[in-house]
Amino acid sequence: SGSKELEGKRIVITAGGTREPLDPVRYLTNHSSGKMGFAIAKAAQLAGAEVTLITANTTLPKPESVKVLPVETARDLLQTVQKQFVDADVLIMAAAVADFRPATVSDRKIKKNDHNETMTLDLVRNPDILKEVATTKKASQIVIGFAAETNDLITNAEKKIKAKHLDLIVANDVSQKGIGFSADNNQVTFLFANGDQQKTSVESKQKVAQQLIHILSHRLISRQ
Ligand code: PMT
Repeated sequence: SGSKELEGKRIVITAGGTREPLDPVRYLTNHSSGKMGFAIAKAAQLAGAEVTLITANTTLPKPESVKVLPVETARDLLQTVQKQFVDADVLIMAAAVADFRPATVSDRKIKKNDHNETMTLDLVRNPDILKEVATTKKASQIVIGFAAETNDLITNAEKKIKAKHLDLIVANDVSQKGIGFSADNNQVTFLFANGDQQKTSVESKQKVAQQLIHILSHRLISRQ
């Protein structure tokens, strides 16, 4: 739509996948490309919002008229989200965040020897960014999460919308070929706090992003 539905709103969006270093040359990560978060940033900017895009290890070109803040790890992402959320109207977390990180980061490259056929990594829990944000959230602020699931999509997304105190969750089946991680297309179910559901067809991430921005403007912001 050509109308400026989000004029005057400040929106913080996260995109990409966090990287958790193991040693100077290795890290743990996931398949997120950042395409979904970038598409949302573009749709929000076109709708007139002031957009800050926090990028975790993406290689996509910077969207026009969007402030970009790059981060690496889940803990970097937490710090930057917290700082940006203070005076934001909306937070949308499309980034894929590592739930665990290596317990220690070796300052030298980890070596194999002639004897070890297996190796065990000790991992520790990362902060849950959405849960941390929920503790400081003002009533006027809107928080939207994603749920990337390979099974029991709706049941798991319903658990996350409650546990993370979200206004909306975008349930994303990441087991299907051609949608989800790294793909150009996506298919999602928008799940509202009151239990309402709205499923999209398979379409471009840009189209999915436009629908999300439309729901944000017409169902979440207008209700306030
Ligand atoms: O980047 P693309 O290649 O375009 O792929 C898009 C996508 C598949 C990454 C995206 O559509 C998506 O589903 N993003 C969420 C990925 C994820 O981490 O989902 P989750 O179900 O593990 O986490 C639930 C929510 O909590 C997410 O909003 C996540 O950002 C957030 N989270 C997760 C872990 C954590 N420690 N802190 C968080 O805040």
